[in-house]
Amino acid sequence: MRALITGGGGQLAEELLLAAGEHEAVAFPIERLDICDDAQVRAALTRVKPNIVFNAAAYTAVDLAQTHADLAERINHHAVRVLASACTEFGARLVQVSTDYVFDGRSGVPYVSTDATNPQSVYGTSKRDGELAALQSRDALVVRTAWLYSTRGTNFMRTMIRLMQERDELRVVSDQIGTPTHAAGLARAMWDLALTGATGVHHWTDAGVASWYEFALAIRDESAAAGFATANTNVLPIASIDYPTAAPRPAMSVLCKAATWSALGRTSPHWREGLHDTMIEYARICAEKPTR
Ligand SMILES: NC(=O)c1ccc[n+]([C@@H]2O[C@H](COP(=O)([O-])OP(=O)(O)OC[C@H]3O[C@@H](n4cnc5c(N)ncnc54)[C@H](OP(=O)(O)O)[C@@H]3O)[C@@H](O)[C@H]2O)c1
Repeated sequence: MRALITGGGGQLAEELLLAAGEHEAVAFPIERLDICDDAQVRAALTRVKPNIVFNAAAYTAVDLAQTHADLAERINHHAVRVLASACTEFGARLVQVSTDYVFDGRSGVPYVSTDATNPQSVYGTSKRDGELAALQSRDALVVRTAWLYSTRGTNFMRTMIRLMQERDELRVVSDQIGTPTHAAGLARAMWDLALTGATGVHHWTDAGVASWYEFALAIRDESAAAGFATANTNVLPIASIDYPTAAPRPAMSVLCKAATWSALGRTSPHWREGLHDTMIEYARICAEKPTR
């Protein structure tokens, strides 16, 4: 298998590259492949001749998207339509990444992949439209995920560790629940799904449920155990209403993974396990280039 990964340099694209194993894979950052540029997309497909295209490129600034709707739509929707048609033409399978933000968060039970979408933000709408565009491509696979973090890039785990080293007290939202998901595990699941020939919409996150507050407490404990100076920060729960954001977030964004687990013949690790493993790796990276 030969894979072309878009959005190189992003946290998921980097993990997809690392998870390639025996397969050939190249990740192009935006400077080499702007997915909004039809000619660049076609030139990349001509040169790489991939069997699989993992589209990890996206406009991911959820709050900024509220005021930059055109850009979010262009990258998360229109570019995916062009990518989908190019993949069909070049005989490559498109694997599109999507999000829990396609749902409104009002469900009392985990969302299955066939539940009706009802995005509440510009970002969520652009990603939902991107899903529909991707599914126009032959044998396309859409993988919805949530609450991603890794040792790289901007994410909740890294932000919390930085803030805990700077502050005595942090207030974190406790009335939004979902599942923290380590990007390395998602990348492995995406490769496995692509290689098993899965098509349509699949859900993948780590297992279990947490609020952002519970995630922050776990980050404090795991990071302190890994040697970061975070143990003394007092973490307090607050309500979403006391932490207003430009884009509304779903209150309940737990995704049901049963169908994906059945397709893969394995389950996701619990989110605490994913956090533990990622923290050990992050501590190792920080020890090599002392930035903490
Ligand atoms: N992070 C989460 O919690 C989360 C949750 C659910 C789903 N997802 C989805 O997971 C996927 C990967 O997200 P991530 O967390 O890895 O995001 P990320 O770290 O922000 O990576 C996205 C990458 O896409 C690049 N990009 C933006 N516009 C592009 C364009 N026109 N052409 C090519 N590349 C472009 C970005 O480059 P610049 O940085 O230079 O703009 C960035 O390197 C996305 O589809 C996202 O919607 C993420």
